[in-house]
Amino acid sequence: MDHFIIQGGHQLHGEIAISGAKNSGLKLMVAALLTDGPLILSNVPDIADIRTMRSLLTGLGLDVHEVDGPHHLSLGGRANSVEAPYDIVAQMRASILVLGPLLARAGEARVSLPGGCAIGTRPVDLHLKGFEALGAEIDLEGGYINARAPAGGLRGARIMLPFPSVGATENILMAATLAKGTTEIVNAAREPEIADLVGCLNAMGAKIHGETSGTIVIEGVERLHGAEYAVMPDRIECGTYACAVGITGGDLLLEGGRMGDQEAVIQALQEAGVSVQEDARGLRVQCNGRLQGIDLTTEPYPGFPTDMQAQFMAMLSVAEGASMMTETIFENRFMHVPELNRMGARINIQGRSAIIRGVPRLSGAPVMATDLRASFSLILAALVAEGETEVSRIYHLDRGYEGVDRKLSACGAAIQRVHNTH
Ligand code: EPZ
Repeated sequence: MDHFIIQGGHQLHGEIAISGAKNSGLKLMVAALLTDGPLILSNVPDIADIRTMRSLLTGLGLDVHEVDGPHHLSLGGRANSVEAPYDIVAQMRASILVLGPLLARAGEARVSLPGGCAIGTRPVDLHLKGFEALGAEIDLEGGYINARAPAGGLRGARIMLPFPSVGATENILMAATLAKGTTEIVNAAREPEIADLVGCLNAMGAKIHGETSGTIVIEGVERLHGAEYAVMPDRIECGTYACAVGITGGDLLLEGGRMGDQEAVIQALQEAGVSVQEDARGLRVQCNGRLQGIDLTTEPYPGFPTDMQAQFMAMLSVAEGASMMTETIFENRFMHVPELNRMGARINIQGRSAIIRGVPRLSGAPVMATDLRASFSLILAALVAEGETEVSRIYHLDRGYEGVDRKLSACGAAIQRVHNTH
């Protein structure tokens, strides 16, 4: 397992190209199951989760190949299997999203229950209730979800989500594109990745609108066709590198970053003392090194995103004064706290909130990544800590961030990836 060695104390100056969004690209790939294609995707991030999704879709019978390199994929052909096996679903929860397209296209699906993960139990009850509303029969047996559409195919319905679940919205949305009649998803998630998926599906011939309103309307069509589509830039990667400027001071141009996708994050950065300006090529982020503590609560979009919680906590650990971070989306997303405290942070967890008392400095130490976003919070702390930090288990990081050591080294960070043979 690889680890990083980081020497703290270097300001960041220069440019970072933001990659395509993991949490959109994965879903756009799954959309290929809804047609014989080909679906040509550009700006795909070169990360482990995308490679896992390629093997899942290939296992289902799709032809997935690189057009020119890993950022440009062609997906075509028709699934000849409807089973998503446990070993892949357990690796990557987003695999559950093949359920909707398989139900819509093949009339059945057998997908392993994803099980929990480090940050929470991650149930899929809202996905399954949505499919039942569309007429599907669902039964759970031996750790698998067996789903079957009615003989005449799925039928449009009005579906009210008790919580604006991103995954449930996406799964139901994809299934509804080929259902008979119209489907309304009320209290739908409004994350920008949903709009990206809708843009791709409409380019494939779907008839969907309302994706930013909270009520998505899908008129079912007979079939979808192939298309070419570019994955949106990764707003979470962009916000993460903005926190790197905040914690180390300095000046970065985040190429491809977009103001419109992350207003709550930009507002929080500015309140904390980080300047964010729109630039012709992306976002210009600067900080003079003095940060102020702020209070934040994670919420569904357009609120402050849970995927930025760990990164902000690292940055606020060296701010003037205290901050409070409240996590309302996942029940166990504070695992970076003990590791940050080992580096000298002063963070106390009180239920779903954490009190962060700013400290003048952090100290390098050996720390361990526990999940994707937590792993980057440790890197952020290491970039400003005195001395050397070793971050182990960075396979968590490689799932969702492309070329972190390359991108940071190019801007002045002292970071080195060490390949462990064992
Ligand atoms: C997506 O997960 C993202 N993953 C997550 O990013 C992100 O944190 C999350 O949305 C919220 O924005 C991908 O897009 C691959 P949810 P998802 O369904 O779809 C509960 C990252 O770091 N819930 O909106 O699983 C659930 O337990 C990852 O990139 C149910 O109760 O998120 C959680 O508490 C982490 N029943 C809350 O809703 C359900 O059927 C949010 O889940 C579904 C969800």
